[in-house]
Amino acid sequence: MKFEVTEHPNPTSGERIAEILQNPGFGTNFTDHTTVVDWSADAGWQDARIEPYGPITLDPAASVLHYASEIFEGMKAYLHADGSVYTFRPFANAARMNASARRMALPEIDEELFVQSLEVLVAKDKAWVPASDGEALYLRPFMFGTEAFLGVRPSQTVTYRVIASPAGNFFGGELKPVKIWVSRDYVRAAPGGTGAAKTGGNYAGSLAAQAQAAEKGCQQVLFLDPLHENAIEELGGMNVFLVTNDGCLLTPELTGTILEGVTRSSIIQLAKDRGLTVEERRVGLEEWAKGAADGTIVEAFACGTAAVVTPIGELLDGDQTITMTGDFSTTLALREELLGIQTGKVEDRHGWLHKLA
Ligand code: COI
Repeated sequence: MKFEVTEHPNPTSGERIAEILQNPGFGTNFTDHTTVVDWSADAGWQDARIEPYGPITLDPAASVLHYASEIFEGMKAYLHADGSVYTFRPFANAARMNASARRMALPEIDEELFVQSLEVLVAKDKAWVPASDGEALYLRPFMFGTEAFLGVRPSQTVTYRVIASPAGNFFGGELKPVKIWVSRDYVRAAPGGTGAAKTGGNYAGSLAAQAQAAEKGCQQVLFLDPLHENAIEELGGMNVFLVTNDGCLLTPELTGTILEGVTRSSIIQLAKDRGLTVEERRVGLEEWAKGAADGTIVEAFACGTAAVVTPIGELLDGDQTITMTGDFSTTLALREELLGIQTGKVEDRHGWLHKLA
């Protein structure tokens, strides 16, 4: 599809971009442009364009504002030594967006159009891609129902957009092990629900639990599945792995209630490549607590596009603390290899990279 381009009338100066890239933080600064493609039930996807970044106009009755018809993706663009910008497994994100679309009764988008929407935006705002290690341009494709109608039905008009934001460590500052709060008051998802869809409502539903976590000095919340003896599910915004003392990775299996993370599946592949065993299965919180106490579960980490791979140092469950006693050598090796592939420093033996600009 051809993207019409409207240049930003007043683009950010090179000086200001350099200042932002000094300390990008996470999710607070946005590039000068945004990709937009509209959809209607009558005409399908149309009117692909690049617009200046800025506030958007929505009818107050728009479907997304009342019935939360919204899905999104998270990806990163990395600057390589030759000045090119690559992203990681974009077709996996495109496929996941379409899986979310099916669940949330939004239209599927052609995977090539999804990837093209990233290419045109990054080509335009390439100056915003950070060059420092561990930093990238975070890409946020999202889609929402715009139809002005209070009857409850799939929105007959939809907008797809991509925004981009220079990103450093999701948890702020230098990489260090995070503390996680076990949510006993709230669950994230139930069988047949929307847990496997990347939809804003799942994140809205996590915020009360996340607020409890913050009150306890924790950076993320861990959700459990009370229907299956408190099996661990996922964190507020990322998947979770445990590492045993005999080189095995444990992670919750995909049962439809957790998000199928692209980072999650990449970590599983990289771990297998290293000869580690990976068990995707139900892991009870009790198994984690026991394993941490008897030294059989030594490391834990969170993973996602935003979090990359972040060690979990402690888990707070009420007034009990589960402490990870390992040296995070497996966690950090996996992190380094993944980031190495993403930034072009380690051979991309699985063909995961895609050149954007
Ligand atoms: C991501 O990792 O890209 C996500 O979408 C999670 C969000 C909490 C930032």
